[in-house]
Amino acid sequence: MISEPTKTTASPGSADAPKLELRNITKWFGSEQTGICAVDDCTLAVEEGEFICVVGPSGCGKSTLMTIGAGLEEPTRGDVLIDGKAAGPPGPRRSVVFQKFALFPSETVEQNIKFGLQMTGVARDDQERRLVEQLKIMGLEQFRKAYPSELSGGMQQRVAIARALVMRPEILLMDEPFGALDAQTRTILQEEVQRLHREQHYTVLFITHSVEEAVYLGDRVIVMTKRPGRIKKEMKLPRDAVWKQGDIEAAAEHPEFIEARREIWALVREEIVAGQ
Ligand SMILES: Nc1ncnc2c1ncn2[C@@H]1O[C@H](COP(=O)(O)OP(=O)(O)OP(=O)(O)O)[C@@H](O)[C@H]1O
Ligand SMILES: [Mg+2]
Repeated sequence: MISEPTKTTASPGSADAPKLELRNITKWFGSEQTGICAVDDCTLAVEEGEFICVVGPSGCGKSTLMTIGAGLEEPTRGDVLIDGKAAGPPGPRRSVVFQKFALFPSETVEQNIKFGLQMTGVARDDQERRLVEQLKIMGLEQFRKAYPSELSGGMQQRVAIARALVMRPEILLMDEPFGALDAQTRTILQEEVQRLHREQHYTVLFITHSVEEAVYLGDRVIVMTKRPGRIKKEMKLPRDAVWKQGDIEAAAEHPEFIEARREIWALVREEIVAGQ
């Protein structure tokens, strides 16, 4: 099941180019003599509609890789491509969800969700239509006029996801989006994100500490080495696996799930131990 990382072969701009490609990404914070190398020559291609999860030891460069993929950070070397062409600065094709919900505290739920639509000049009636649709999808209808401080952590993260999805991005980048939530809320949101992906076929790059979450959600799980982060191994997981059909609690009872989790955890543990 475990394999060497997939190398990409599509030529730039070709129809079979991946949706999102990180090509030979290296990132130094500070100078290359005295600074920190966070990511070392990482190449990762996310195909259209694919859900990729990245796991690795704490501090190995996962968030750095994601922020570079989102266009929020410049790599020291390497390229970020969308559909085979230079991705350029952040824009509506990519939406990001962070662990800390990063909502505007003095704005209501609806203002938070509408913000990106206003910034990109979406027509007013279209803004309203898309807002209502997202409120419904994320079960937030009654909280439309609430402020973030009036919501639980789980509800705030729903708002953050709604705010990302309302932009109708081609690519969704998520950095430990459920890391700050209690276990029950996390389970519910994992199932919802999985359902959204099944129904709407987003291309997703999802960073997580949790091997279980990665195996549950990912079509492919990428394991990174300890810092400086490189791609160590990857594992493909069949989307039609019985344990991927919506009940994460039941997933843990399937031998294939247990085996995949065990194999990936062994790889992550190797890196944690090597870093001690
Ligand atoms: N802005 C920054 N300036 C300097 N060093 C940084 C910066 N951002 C990250 N780093 C360093 O780069 C390395 C990788 O950090 P990063 O946040 O990408 O790791 P991570 O895998 O996401 O960790 P975690 O699992 O704890 O979230 C760490 O050593 C970190 O201290
Ligand atoms: Mg991180």
